[in-house]
Amino acid sequence: MLPEHGRPASELLAELSALRAGDLPVRGGRVTAYVYDTGRPEVHDAAHRAYAEMIEVNMLDPTAFPSMVALEKQVVGAAAELLGRPGAPGIFTSGGTESIMLAVKAARDTRPGTGRVVLPVTAHPAFHKAAHYLGMETVPVPVDAGTFRASVPAVAEAIDERTALVVASAPAYPQGVVDPVTEIAGLAASRGVPCHVDACVGGWLLPWLREAGAAIPPFDLGVPGVTSISCDLHKFGYAPKGASVLLFRDAELRRAAYFASAAWPGYTIINATVQSSRSAGPLGGAWATLQSLGREGYLELGRRTLEATRRLVAGIGGIPGLRVLGEPDASLVAIAGSPEIDVFVLADEARRLGWFLQPQLSYAGIPANLHITVTGVTLAGVDAMLEVIASAAGTARLRGPAAVPEGLPELIASIDLDTIDDETFAGLAASVGIDLRGAGQPAMATVNAVLDALPAPVREAVLVRFLSVMYG
Ligand SMILES: Cc1ncc(COP(=O)(O)O)c(C=O)c1O
Repeated sequence: MLPEHGRPASELLAELSALRAGDLPVRGGRVTAYVYDTGRPEVHDAAHRAYAEMIEVNMLDPTAFPSMVALEKQVVGAAAELLGRPGAPGIFTSGGTESIMLAVKAARDTRPGTGRVVLPVTAHPAFHKAAHYLGMETVPVPVDAGTFRASVPAVAEAIDERTALVVASAPAYPQGVVDPVTEIAGLAASRGVPCHVDACVGGWLLPWLREAGAAIPPFDLGVPGVTSISCDLHKFGYAPKGASVLLFRDAELRRAAYFASAAWPGYTIINATVQSSRSAGPLGGAWATLQSLGREGYLELGRRTLEATRRLVAGIGGIPGLRVLGEPDASLVAIAGSPEIDVFVLADEARRLGWFLQPQLSYAGIPANLHITVTGVTLAGVDAMLEVIASAAGTARLRGPAAVPEGLPELIASIDLDTIDDETFAGLAASVGIDLRGAGQPAMATVNAVLDALPAPVREAVLVRFLSVMYG
C-alpha cells in the first residue's frame, strides 16, 4: 500500500478523481442528504482556499496560533447574533455530534448526581451516543402522532430529580418539524433543569426562512430556559465538513464543557472540544463561507430553499400513493408511501435514474419514508426531482413491495450476532441474495426491508456487522 518511492501530486490527484467517479455527486442537488450546495461555485471555492490556508494550524494550542482564536471569535459571534443572544459564549466544534457531546457533558458536570437526558424519540442519535460515551442514560419521550412534535405532557412526566438535561430539536431531522421549544424550555426551567436546543440542521436555516416569510416558532437562545444550542455550519451554513458551533447561555456552562489535564509530565492539556490536536482548516473554511455569502447571500438561499420546499410539498401531494409526513417547518421533507408503493423500491429506482433519496426506517409508530433535505440549489431542479419521484413511484407500484425472505427477520433476531464472525455474517446475507462484498450498489430495497422488519437493537447489531464486513 505504501509506495517505495514518492509519487507526483498530479498522479495522486488523478487517482483520487478516478476513485471519486464511483461517489454520489456532492454538487447539483441530485443527492438530497449529506451534502449542501449553494449553487454558487465561487463561494465553495473561497472556502476551499481558506481551508487550505489554515489546514496546518493546530487548534491544540490557542496561544501558539492566535489566528484561529480571532477566526473562532468571529464565527461564534456571528452565530450568537443570529441565534438570539449576541455575545453568548460558544465553542467551534467538528460537527453536530461533537457539539451535542459537549452540551451533554456540560449539563452532566454542572448537575452532579443526575445523569439522565430526556429527549423526544425524534431527537438525533448523537444524544444516545453522548449518553453512551459519558456514562449517562437517555429517557426517550413520544412525539405527537400527527404533527411529530414532542409531547409536552410526556416531557413534563419524564423530568425528575435525576434529569441532567432536557432536549428539544429545531427542527428534528426525520420530519423537519420544530419541537415546542418555548413550552419545553419553560418546563425545564421551572424544574431547575437545563435545556439544549438541537438546531444542528436548523440553526443556520430557520432564521433565513423566517425572514423569507415562513412562520417559524421561537427556538433559539432568546427563549427563556434554553441554556445551550447547537448549530452546524457544515449543513445550512454551506461550509465544508467539520464545522459546528455550540453556544451557551453563560460562560460558567461553557467552562463545564472544557477539559484540562495536568496529570502527566508532558505539555499542558486544555481542550475546548473532544478532539485535542485538530486542523484549523474547517474553521478557515467556515469563516470564509460566512464572509463570502454574507447576510444577503444567506437570505437569498433561504428564499430559494423556501420556494423549492413549497413546490416539492405541493408536488408530492399530487402523486397518488405518496404523502408528506406532518407539516415541515424547515426544508426537510419526509415522504411516506402506501401499501401499493414501497418507498424503499422507489428509492432504488430513483437511484437508477441518478437521484439519491435517503431512506428512513419505521420507528416508534412512524412509517418508513424517504427524506429530502431541500437546499439552496434544489429550486433549479425541483421540477425534475418531482418528475423522477413520480416516475419511480410508478415503477414501484408495478414492482410491488420489496420481498423480505421468509423467516429471515426471525432468524436474524434469534442469532447471537456476537458469536458469529464477519465471514459467517457475509455468507448469511449472500444466502438471501444480499452481496455485502460485491462491487457496486446492492439492492438496497431488500436490505432496508429486512432492517425495517427488525427491532431497533437488532438493527443496531446488524449495522455494526455491516460496517465491519464492509471495511474487511
Ligand atoms: C438535528 C441534528 N442533530 C445532530 C446531527 C448530527 O450532526 P453531525 O452529522 O454533524 O454530527 C444531525 C445530522 O444530520 C441533525 O440533523
